[in-house]
Amino acid sequence: MSDKTILIVDADSASLNFLVRMVKEQGYFAMAANTGKEGLVIAWRDRPDLIIFDPALQDISAEEFLLKLRRDLRSTNLPILALSSSHNPGMKEACLKAGCNEYMLKTGEIVATLPEVIARLLGVKQDEVKEGGCLIVFLSAKGGTGTSSLCANFAMAIHHSKPESSVAVVDMVLPIGSIAPIVGYQGEVNLVSVTELSSAETTGEYFRKHLPDIELWQFQLLAGAPDPERANDLKIARIPEVIKALQKSYDFVAVDLGRSLSRISLPIIQKADLAVLIMSTDQSTITLTKKILDYLHAQGIESRNIFAILNRAVGLEGLTKSEAEKIIGLPIKTAIPYMGSNFALANNLNQPIILKYPEDTASIVFRDVASDMIKTATNLRNR
Ligand SMILES: Nc1ncnc2c1ncn2[C@@H]1O[C@H](COP(=O)(O)OP(=O)(O)OP(=O)(O)O)[C@@H](O)[C@H]1O
Ligand SMILES: [Mg+2]
Repeated sequence: MSDKTILIVDADSASLNFLVRMVKEQGYFAMAANTGKEGLVIAWRDRPDLIIFDPALQDISAEEFLLKLRRDLRSTNLPILALSSSHNPGMKEACLKAGCNEYMLKTGEIVATLPEVIARLLGVKQDEVKEGGCLIVFLSAKGGTGTSSLCANFAMAIHHSKPESSVAVVDMVLPIGSIAPIVGYQGEVNLVSVTELSSAETTGEYFRKHLPDIELWQFQLLAGAPDPERANDLKIARIPEVIKALQKSYDFVAVDLGRSLSRISLPIIQKADLAVLIMSTDQSTITLTKKILDYLHAQGIESRNIFAILNRAVGLEGLTKSEAEKIIGLPIKTAIPYMGSNFALANNLNQPIILKYPEDTASIVFRDVASDMIKTATNLRNR
């Protein structure tokens, strides 16, 4: 998600609305003005990061608009893109001379070409711009709260609730992954082995072709490090590219981050559409969760991107949902009931909960909450 704001100035309301919608879909905030004067007021008051304008303004000339912006300290260096319906070469020259950074024609092709131009003008690297499938990360403040089991089961439930969607699961817990033993995968492909390949090799198609299909679970798995020694070989710098390639190829990418809040996991959380924060009901976990939340907020992760879940992994005792909410200061989306030894049994048999115990309350919760996750993540992405 980008925190950049783009001001669109266009006298044609239909075109204005179209452009506003388009930049929002690309993950930016948008502001709109119908006239040049209104555009100037907004530019100086709200300080957007980029202006896109149609030179055919009705109140002032394009040249005047640009010169006013360039002569004011608040907008001297502001990137400005002219998006014009006029083929008049004089207009292009006048705009560029008056200080506009780039001049493009409004053709049917802008839908394809504009994202790259916007990213360049914003100085934003393309990989910071939202594209591809939803990224949902699972994390916790403390070990043993059920993060890995819930990551695998929710990924499965997401496909169950939206069967036409493709889902990939990535186990990023170091120094040893645990999703592979939960779903029963014993192959050689894992996070360490794929980061040893070159960027040119690990494309979205590569993953679709080579990641194991975990049949009962209906997702493809990028397993974690098989042991601590192998984890030492992990090429950490390659991880962002790997996640990006996965997002290109799958509708949903679920990542188990476990309880590691590190240099590796933080950038992934920042890029995620949804950070699912799992906590158990004991006081110490909830208190730690509050600390993690404060940290995430300080790192610019907003409450709306956090999906808090209370998992009764340790039994019936402990705090209630509303007590936990009071401590963490955030609504908890759902509480997963205690399943006794049934949960561990399903894990040991490598079976998803909703197949093994379809009638159990937990299965109902998994199904309902998975569709809520899909909706929330998709809405945040298209915001
Ligand atoms: N709702 C539940 N009811 C009963 N048992 C549960 C529940 N949720 C998780 N468990 C059990 O808790 C144990 C820990 O689960 P899991 O390995 O998923 O946690 P984790 O947070 O990933 O742990 P780690 O810190 O080791 O990565 C497992 O045995 C699992 O079966
Ligand atoms: Mg785990």
